[in-house]
Amino acid sequence: MGLLQELRYYLRSQSTSLPRYLLEQTLMSLLGGLPGLLGIGLRGIAYKAILHADGVPIIEHNVRLLNPARIRLGAKVYLDTGVYLNALPSGITIGAGTNLMHGVIFHVFNYRDLPHAGITVGQNCFFGEYTCIRGQGGVRIGDGVYTGTQVNIAAVNHVFADPNRFIKDQGITADGITIEDDVWLGSNVTVVDGVTIGRGSVIGAGAVVTKSIPPYSIAVGVPAKVVGDRRDPEAVKRFNDAKVFYGELEKLRGQE
Ligand SMILES: CC(C)(COP(=O)(O)OP(=O)(O)OC[C@H]1O[C@@H](n2cnc3c(N)ncnc32)[C@H](O)[C@@H]1OP(=O)(O)O)[C@@H](O)C(=O)NCCC(=O)NCCS
Repeated sequence: MGLLQELRYYLRSQSTSLPRYLLEQTLMSLLGGLPGLLGIGLRGIAYKAILHADGVPIIEHNVRLLNPARIRLGAKVYLDTGVYLNALPSGITIGAGTNLMHGVIFHVFNYRDLPHAGITVGQNCFFGEYTCIRGQGGVRIGDGVYTGTQVNIAAVNHVFADPNRFIKDQGITADGITIEDDVWLGSNVTVVDGVTIGRGSVIGAGAVVTKSIPPYSIAVGVPAKVVGDRRDPEAVKRFNDAKVFYGELEKLRGQE
């Protein structure tokens, strides 16, 4: 590949056109590193020129956005420092009231023209620090989904059928991942490609989810196995006497 072709390839991975790239880079260089409320305010207004946002998005400093023209943010989406959104080229949509904490990565990673690539997240979700989503096969997440820290959701597998060739040269498969409404993934959970996690399920810390999980399951372990059903009063009776806490933001937004 010649230098010019490599440059074109690089630019395509960064933005939708050269003029947009220049605008995006200018705004992000000027405002991207500005801390505090002033930075949040200026980015909230100015970044509407480079991404789609309902209302004013709350974007902390040092957030990295690639292909921002393909990013859609609902009202009151919060992006903490160190968040990295790469929407190439199939897009990232994040629903209203969703929080991405420090170091969260959403990367569509579609360098191979996969038809279902993309990442779509519903409303009022919360992604813990360093959670990473790869969206080659398409990742669809419902409303009110919460993750602990360092969760991995990877809608891709490498093909390794031929032991005589490098794995990296054998292509990928990517069927997609669906996580329905009201799911809680504990810290360090990994969800592999092709899995659906049913509505209302709880996945214990450190689990590797290799098969689909029915709604309202409690599942733990490697590989994840269902050990309970949230609709069974016996499975949740320890909450009967538990002291339960709510946050001010949940009260403010009527989510408690
Ligand atoms: C799964 C979890 C929610 C507990 O659910 P629970 O229904 O109360 O489960 P129990 O504590 O009754 O445990 C049921 C069984 O699963 C096991 N288990 C519980 N959590 C487990 C986990 N994360 N990995 C492996 N096994 C686990 C228990 O040892 C128990 O096994 P046993 O029946 O052989 O004794 C909790 O253990 C957990 O993993 N929480 C995530 C914490 C976290 O990541 N917080 C981050 C903040 S978002």
